[in-house]
Amino acid sequence: MGKSEITALDEVTLRLPDSGIVIISGPSGAGKSTLIRAISGLELPSKGSIYVEGVDITRLGAYELAWFRRKKFGFKPQDPKLIPQLTILENVALPLLFNYVPRKCALEAAMELLQEVGLGERIMHKPDEVSGGEYERASLAQTIIGSPPIVILDEPTAHLDPENSRKIAELVKAKQREAGSLYIVTTLEDTIIREADLRVYINKGRIEF
Ligand SMILES: Nc1ncnc2c1ncn2[C@@H]1O[C@H](COP(=O)(O)OP(=O)(O)OP(=O)(O)O)[C@@H](O)[C@H]1O
Ligand SMILES: [Mg+2]
Repeated sequence: MGKSEITALDEVTLRLPDSGIVIISGPSGAGKSTLIRAISGLELPSKGSIYVEGVDITRLGAYELAWFRRKKFGFKPQDPKLIPQLTILENVALPLLFNYVPRKCALEAAMELLQEVGLGERIMHKPDEVSGGEYERASLAQTIIGSPPIVILDEPTAHLDPENSRKIAELVKAKQREAGSLYIVTTLEDTIIREADLRVYINKGRIEF
């Protein structure tokens, strides 16, 4: 930020398991989003390394990193954006299409997953024709379709009421248990924190134990 330097992450050393639910919590501005953006290669640190399955992703070129991210990660940002011109169904199928899954198979898989998350009646709607909770569930479906080995969810319940938050927490747990993959979730929500296999607390860019 010009002359003023912001240290979003400070001397963070963290080793995560390859499966289970890891919850990252901490106050607003603590560095939660920055940490998971770094883990997924969206934002590279000014120094240090990030190993994912033995590969230091800070050393990959742009093309390799894009390929690696597409194969390894499902990432839902804090403020997810579905593509407004596409239907909910097409939006959810998109990551499979990018992974060269034939269109028919991709749409079938998306349809099945949307039914599981309770959006079977909304598949032909455009993103601006669904409620906030439905949009969040569609974004979750788009993130976990194809069962990526690492799923990262930035505040999946931030804009939801308690009932919808509970539904998302249950869905996150069920899907992680089914896939046996690693879910990294930032949240302040007790309903989700209760599901954690490992909890990481971050404050002012530092991990606190
Ligand atoms: N693009 C940026 N440029 C400069 N500073 C930034 C940028 N993004 C975030 N920050 C700062 O980095 C710090 C960490 O931000 P981050 O978004 O990681 O926090 P957070 O824990 O996710 O907060 P929240 O709970 O509000 O989402 C904050 O002090 C924030 O103001
Ligand atoms: Mg954040």
